Amino acid sequence: MDSKIINWGIIGAGKIASKFAADLNSLSNAKLYGIASRSIEKANHFASEFDVNKAYDSYDALVLDPNIDAIYIATPHSFHKAHSLLCLNNKKPVLCEKPFAMNLEEVNEMISLSKQNNTLLMEALWTAFIPHFQYVQNLIDKKHYGEVVQLEADFGFFTEYDENSRVFNKSVGGGSLLDIGIYPLFAALSTLGLPNSIEAKADFFPSGADSECEIICHYDNAKAVLKSTLLEETKTEAIFHCEHGTIKINNRFHEPSSVLLIDKFGNSELKTFDYKTIGYSYEIEHFNQLIRDGKTESDLMTFDRSRQLISTLDNIRALIGLEYS
Ligand SMILES: NC(=O)c1ccc[n+]([C@@H]2O[C@H](COP(=O)([O-])OP(=O)(O)OC[C@H]3O[C@@H](n4cnc5c(N)ncnc54)[C@H](OP(=O)(O)O)[C@@H]3O)[C@@H](O)[C@H]2O)c1
Repeated sequence: MDSKIINWGIIGAGKIASKFAADLNSLSNAKLYGIASRSIEKANHFASEFDVNKAYDSYDALVLDPNIDAIYIATPHSFHKAHSLLCLNNKKPVLCEKPFAMNLEEVNEMISLSKQNNTLLMEALWTAFIPHFQYVQNLIDKKHYGEVVQLEADFGFFTEYDENSRVFNKSVGGGSLLDIGIYPLFAALSTLGLPNSIEAKADFFPSGADSECEIICHYDNAKAVLKSTLLEETKTEAIFHCEHGTIKINNRFHEPSSVLLIDKFGNSELKTFDYKTIGYSYEIEHFNQLIRDGKTESDLMTFDRSRQLISTLDNIRALIGLEYS
């Protein structure tokens, strides 16, 4: 049944919703059917920009529409649990933005309801589905250059401090760690697994949201040195130093990018990928297939993977003293 058109709805007409909509519109077997916003003007504007069938002035109205097969949650972090539960309670498959929720307890609640209602739920950690990341993951799993000895991964950009932006607003989950630090951490967990111990330190904005966070994950024979910052532009690379060579995911490693392989003799090879979309199309196609196959959990972005990610974020937050109400 690969031909079944999946009708999507989006909750929250913000920045990421626009990028997701653009990629969704590039796929032939899926349709952006609905957009829900707290403002009907905003929903109508989004609908006309992205050729959406229906605009709703409330998230509930979209969730109740029987024509919708899948819902993408694009609201700030602190609403991910409530909006996921809203969909799952109405048996609508949910693709929820990262971080999946604010902490492990919330994520467990979402997973429980997904299981109870036999309804698909997946974290939209798009990096997991992008070909260059899967290529690197495969090289590391196969020990192409032997074991990873050290990973260095960072994600940083500068943006003017603005209390109205969700990025700085602690009451909706703002801060560098949950917003962008999640990506270097995801690279570490995907390749090295859960660390034995963690060191972390952070600085904070006046709002109490973390402006930057430095993390070292310790493993038996390796370490991962990770950083997120909203104070400066950084390389935003992931470099895996292995026993017999280096694998480097180039700038903006978490989105479509290239990979540089350097063997122990210094010979290098640049691997490029033929990307035609912003990069969200890969997670969308995966999710569409899960729906067609009647699955309630992804075999790639599994519940365990999401639990490990959020529980490690919880541990880091405890180390840096970052609490959300
Ligand atoms: N995967 C990625 O590459 C990626 C990139 C950026 C962000 N994200 C994730 O996507 C989520 C949204 O990020 P964004 O950058 O799109 O944020 P944004 O531009 O601020 O949009 C969030 C939307 O959520 C809705 N919303 C509902 N209650 C809200 C409230 N109390 N305050 C603010 N907005 C509220 C609003 O939509 P309405 O007004 O239409 O209701 C708003 O436009 C975050 O969790 C973030 O981590 C992921």
